[in-house]
Amino acid sequence: MRIHTAIASLRAARARAGRVAFVPTMGNLHDGHIALMREAARRADTVIASIFVNRLQFGPAEDFDKYPRTPEADREKLEAVGVAHLFAPDETVMYPQAQGCRVVPGPGQADILEGACRPGHFCGVATVVLKLFNIVAPDVALFGKKDYQQLMVLTNMARELALPTEIVAQDTLRAADGLALSSRNRYLSPAERAEAPRLYRQIALVAEAVRGGARDYAALEAAALETLQGHGWQPDYFTVRRRADLQAPQRPDEALVILAAARLGATRLIDNLEV
Ligand code: PAJ
Repeated sequence: MRIHTAIASLRAARARAGRVAFVPTMGNLHDGHIALMREAARRADTVIASIFVNRLQFGPAEDFDKYPRTPEADREKLEAVGVAHLFAPDETVMYPQAQGCRVVPGPGQADILEGACRPGHFCGVATVVLKLFNIVAPDVALFGKKDYQQLMVLTNMARELALPTEIVAQDTLRAADGLALSSRNRYLSPAERAEAPRLYRQIALVAEAVRGGARDYAALEAAALETLQGHGWQPDYFTVRRRADLQAPQRPDEALVILAAARLGATRLIDNLEV
């Protein structure tokens, strides 16, 4: 695997790479990231990964400084899965001057759910992903459904800005007890780690009820919130939405997704499940 820290070096390699699949990450790689790399390899001649902890998408009170950075272990994992090129720029390469020009996702996309809890987050995500796409020029890029709203924002960006990159969604990889793999899981104490699968269990229970015909979403949401709070969680939201735009369901035949975010101790976890 070749490691590129400069844009010119990555672009020169890309020019000789044929069909390219791209997997952007912030590092501290786990099996969920690696599953994206494997799927990328099935879809192109060459896989390019990136690792860049993007300051633009962190709020002032968020964990940018303490976000886990494990470059050596990450390199070994990428090498083992056959990634050809790693783009690992530092901030002087990605943001040599303050990033004044930014991508603003459309109305109703960036200010709901995660965007309501984390103002500016999706503007930061969309800006860095467009910039990375302009550097890597991928034919296809892969993103996890774990970050469901991020996937929606980026899919809409690619369509609305006529980007030549196809966006592919990958299912969420989970631990055996259901907890979605996440770099932030390492913040959990052993007791919190034992409690953490409850978030997915509650989502799965509501999904089961909706599949069984339940339509009183407000009652299902309230019961799930109460259960989580009863076990020491501080939920930000637990909600049944339609998949297409993550707005409240309007008609009985819409494809749905259940999304939740909640804090357990100092750690904020998110998860979701399509119904
Ligand atoms: P990061 O959190 O490192 O995630 C990189 C990619 O891995 C994202 O597409 C994310 O959805 C996916 N992913 C994370 N956990 C997963 C799991 N358990 N199963 C499957 N896929 C999973 O998301 C980001 O970085 C950043 O916002 C980024 C897009 C790189 C822009 O900075």
